Amino acid sequence: MNEWISRIPDAAIGLSSEKLLQTVAGYRGVVELNPSDLAEQGSERRMKILGISASPRGNRSRTLALVREVLAGAGTCGSGTECIDIGSLRIECCDACDACNETGICHKEDDFMEVLEQARRSDGIVLGSPVYIDNVTAQMKAFMDRSADAIHYQVLGGKFGCSVCTTFESGGEEVIRNLDRYLNYLGAFTITGLAISMGDRAALPETALVMARERGRSLVEAILTKRCDPDQETWISSNREFFSTIVRANRGTRPDGYADWVNRGWIRE
Ligand SMILES: Cc1cc2nc3c(=O)[nH]c(=O)nc-3n(C[C@H](O)[C@H](O)[C@H](O)COP(=O)(O)O)c2cc1C
Repeated sequence: MNEWISRIPDAAIGLSSEKLLQTVAGYRGVVELNPSDLAEQGSERRMKILGISASPRGNRSRTLALVREVLAGAGTCGSGTECIDIGSLRIECCDACDACNETGICHKEDDFMEVLEQARRSDGIVLGSPVYIDNVTAQMKAFMDRSADAIHYQVLGGKFGCSVCTTFESGGEEVIRNLDRYLNYLGAFTITGLAISMGDRAALPETALVMARERGRSLVEAILTKRCDPDQETWISSNREFFSTIVRANRGTRPDGYADWVNRGWIRE
């Protein structure tokens, strides 16, 4: 069993709104953070949930609105939130040059590394994509493909995520499955996602807003309680075992990454 799973604060399970607020206020995010993060952020760190939305339609995007509503729900529980619309950023496609494997840094000078860094500094991540041909948008796929090294080094290990999408009608389940799988690949556990079939509606229906806010609250609870699906835990653990061969092979060139894995108990010397 992973270290963070064994530290469930029982008092946080099934909390009332008021108690949840108090518990989040006392949350220091210590369990997920590396010693280097703690040194940077201090022990007074506030819980933070990051939303990442990938529609090209800017503020007209219903997916962006859905992500913001999940964040609003998390915000009512006391979590800090931030939303990044990657559809408005420059994130190029991966060119498979393998430089990130050697250094941990992508050679492309665009917005990808900054968004990844924001995700790394968050306790929870809300991913949102419109459904395009029963799949995620090209903007989201470019972001996912650029994450190969982040997956190998499990940079979201122990964090929690929630996937959301909007669609005219089809592909919602597929997109939630893809986004969930991506978060699991990064080492994060997911709570139940949310796919909204919009049809011709211009704006999200009230029921969708209510469900989105509820997901935000559930995400905060998952972060606090560390409750996770055992199947996801098994899948993530076996992936991590496999990726440890890469971290070990890179030990000479990337000693900090190796040391991080030793600190987290993912590599035993
Ligand atoms: C290129 C493209 C492909 C789409 N593919 C699908 C699809 O496969 N199934 C579907 O039901 N809706 C599809 N849609 C509709 C969008 O999923 C839907 O309008 C969504 O709510 C848009 O999200 P946004 O407002 O965040 O941009 C597609 C729209 C576009 C522009």
